[in-house]
Amino acid sequence: MSWKSSPLSFKILKECDVSKARTSLLALPHHTVETPVFMPVGTKGSLKGLLPDQLEAMDCQIMLGNTYHLGTNPGPELLEKAGGLHKFIGWERALLTDSGGFQMVSLLKFAEIVEEGVTFESPYDSSKKITLTPEESIRIQNAIGADIAMQLDDVVPVLTTGPRVEEAMNRTVRWLDRCLAAHKRPDDQNIFPIVQGGLNEDLRTQCVEHLTKREVNGFAVGGLSGGEAKDDFWRVVNHCSDRLPTDKPRYCMGVGFAADLVVCVALGIDMFDCVYPTRTARFGCGLVDTGQINLKHKKYAFDFTPIQDDCGCSTCKRYTKAYLHTIVTQETVACHLITVHNIFYQLRLMRNMREAIKEQRFPEFVKDFMAKMFASSE
Ligand code: GUN
Ligand code: ZN
Repeated sequence: MSWKSSPLSFKILKECDVSKARTSLLALPHHTVETPVFMPVGTKGSLKGLLPDQLEAMDCQIMLGNTYHLGTNPGPELLEKAGGLHKFIGWERALLTDSGGFQMVSLLKFAEIVEEGVTFESPYDSSKKITLTPEESIRIQNAIGADIAMQLDDVVPVLTTGPRVEEAMNRTVRWLDRCLAAHKRPDDQNIFPIVQGGLNEDLRTQCVEHLTKREVNGFAVGGLSGGEAKDDFWRVVNHCSDRLPTDKPRYCMGVGFAADLVVCVALGIDMFDCVYPTRTARFGCGLVDTGQINLKHKKYAFDFTPIQDDCGCSTCKRYTKAYLHTIVTQETVACHLITVHNIFYQLRLMRNMREAIKEQRFPEFVKDFMAKMFASSE
């Protein structure tokens, strides 16, 4: 029997007694990540409004990049010459790349999905059609060299019904096999499959059954957080998590609202990503225990307290809401300062959950969190 080296090991440290929450060490080629983890999105390898040193200082252990954006510019040839994205951006911790199709379908008006791949108009020449195939997505992701690469999947809007949902689920399975066949770096890069199937539990079950037959080190749940009712979202996450192997990491894609993170951790999810904390910061919104506050609002003009009282981030140590309110519409630094707070808030929430699970007080943590988040306010 031969022993293959694995680019991932997953060691569960503690499980909650009354929910599916667990905390683990996820060892990846570049870094060992503690889960549950939130992965900030650095589309091209940089977060909008945040320096890599700041991310490291906040103990961010893994960041997300996008194949579509990195594959267009700088492109795989340059990335390969640069020695991969870690070297190119001087980031020594873990990286995960999304496969690109989802971004194209959500960003571009004319993207279309056919069996070969996702076709779209070239952003440089509208008369040209480009097709991102599973093979090309993996070629780009192999050049990027992230610790975890995502399969190219067929994503339909979550409220879609009818045969298209089943077609997308089955195509996602076929595309996984094409991704795995095209993968050139199985020793130092993981490919995660993505469970699709919309809000249909039967299709989700079938998808999990197909995907778990493949040799992979972790799984994602996709196609959610697109405007469905919370009950449906939680039902599908719970359904998938119940059927995915317990000894491999589970990643819920595109989830980033604090309350959703807490519920999904209770449902057994280990990894998350979302542009929400950085995007909402650019609109002047700061994350707080009660949700988010818009610092542009005039009620903060004379509020000499930090965004969040017990925060501890460099923005809250120095500035009050009144100051941020003064500069929020005029100075780009305001957006950086709020981004620092929001990412810190998100990473601290995950750290607090990990500690609560370790100390067997996760149920109390959830109660406190929900009481604050859904307290009736003024
Ligand atoms: N980001 C958020 N949801 C998804 C999804 O379903 N698939 C992919 N590839 N990325 C996502
Ligand atoms: Zn803060």
